[in-house]
Amino acid sequence: MIRLDCRGDATARAETTVTHALDAHAERPSAQTGARRRLAGGAGIPVIGAGTFGSDRYDAETVAAGVEHALRAGFRLLDCASVYGNEPLVGEAIRDVLGSTELTRADLFVMSKIWNDAHEPADAVDSVLTSIDDLGVGYLDAVFVHWPFPNHHAPLAATDARDASARPYIHAEFMRTWAALESLVDRGLVRHLGTSNVTIAKLSRIVRDARIQPALNEMELHPCFQQPELFRLCLDHNIQPIGYSPLGSPSRPVRDRTDTDVSDVDHPVVVSIAADHGVHPAAICLAWAVNRGHIPIPFAVKSAQIEANLRAAEIRLTPHELEELRGVERNSRLIKGQVFLWPGSADWLDLWDVDGTIPGWGGYGTPEAEG
Ligand SMILES: NC(=O)c1ccc[n+]([C@@H]2O[C@H](COP(=O)([O-])OP(=O)(O)OC[C@H]3O[C@@H](n4cnc5c(N)ncnc54)[C@H](OP(=O)(O)O)[C@@H]3O)[C@@H](O)[C@H]2O)c1
Repeated sequence: MIRLDCRGDATARAETTVTHALDAHAERPSAQTGARRRLAGGAGIPVIGAGTFGSDRYDAETVAAGVEHALRAGFRLLDCASVYGNEPLVGEAIRDVLGSTELTRADLFVMSKIWNDAHEPADAVDSVLTSIDDLGVGYLDAVFVHWPFPNHHAPLAATDARDASARPYIHAEFMRTWAALESLVDRGLVRHLGTSNVTIAKLSRIVRDARIQPALNEMELHPCFQQPELFRLCLDHNIQPIGYSPLGSPSRPVRDRTDTDVSDVDHPVVVSIAADHGVHPAAICLAWAVNRGHIPIPFAVKSAQIEANLRAAEIRLTPHELEELRGVERNSRLIKGQVFLWPGSADWLDLWDVDGTIPGWGGYGTPEAEG
């Protein structure tokens, strides 16, 4: 049992209960033994996965080669997305591995996402069918709505680029997209549904109205950005949190950096615990995730990094180390989503419902938009 102090503040309460919940429904984290966490419906999911977003640094061939190495090294969970532009090559990598090892499709947990230009119900269905086809997997273990806004932008757009037809979150529209994905679960083509880049306000509405509940929520999570209240809400609803940018996305493009960003792998507490364990600070970011109870999906194409990331999931942190890492929290959101703003909104905070309300057409302080 992990014991943390109970100072009475919301963060301490949330984290304390989280670790109790982790004790209750997680198997002992282990990547090498293939141990899994249990999703609400009973399916197993690996304790760590591999990201596949090469951004503008790595092309599809390089990402696919990384996926092949990751699968051969022992990764079983892949975080894919139609917008990453590499699902056909990632699919080839999957086929190569399945064709040359004793692994079967059932050993893998493959996830994909529908992009913002595919929120119309028919487009959402088409997008998932294309992903299944491109990845060559027959079915997807999970499909996420990548962002809760149907706001599209050109690839590699500058952060001040705006889609003229962009809109705020409109719950009724989101639920129409969700219903289209539910129909794919009914058809046996998708096993679980997930939300991504949502907030407490949005997720609360979604769980209230969904026929098929989200089983997973993909959210930015690294030691300097822990989102304890949203994390707690997920556990309360039996939703498994998936942590993206788990290393603090140290190689993200310049356009995604701001002066106030904090580097997780350079944080003195992370560096000090890493030194104690004789590992790179990146490994401590991943160990923190696994020990806390969310599933990190680090991106790596370098063999040594891939293997180190898998080993990191084996590191058992002490309660004292976990408590120290809880103090590393800096509210350092790195993926701010500026390109998804709509014309009436003021700045990226409008995307994240920071006061618990969902900003409308005129941005913060205007009534929630209705469909
Ligand atoms: N749902 C969403 O909206 C969303 C948003 C963002 C990301 N994601 C998912 O999350 C995945 C991961 O996020 P991310 O790529 O932003 O960030 P990340 O995993 O935090 O950082 C990846 C970078 O960290 C470095 N790295 C990896 N392993 C390392 C190790 N063992 N030691 C030292 N450095 C290491 C690599 O840099 P170098 O290559 O420079 O060595 C790599 O490019 C993505 O691939 C994607 O699948 C989802």
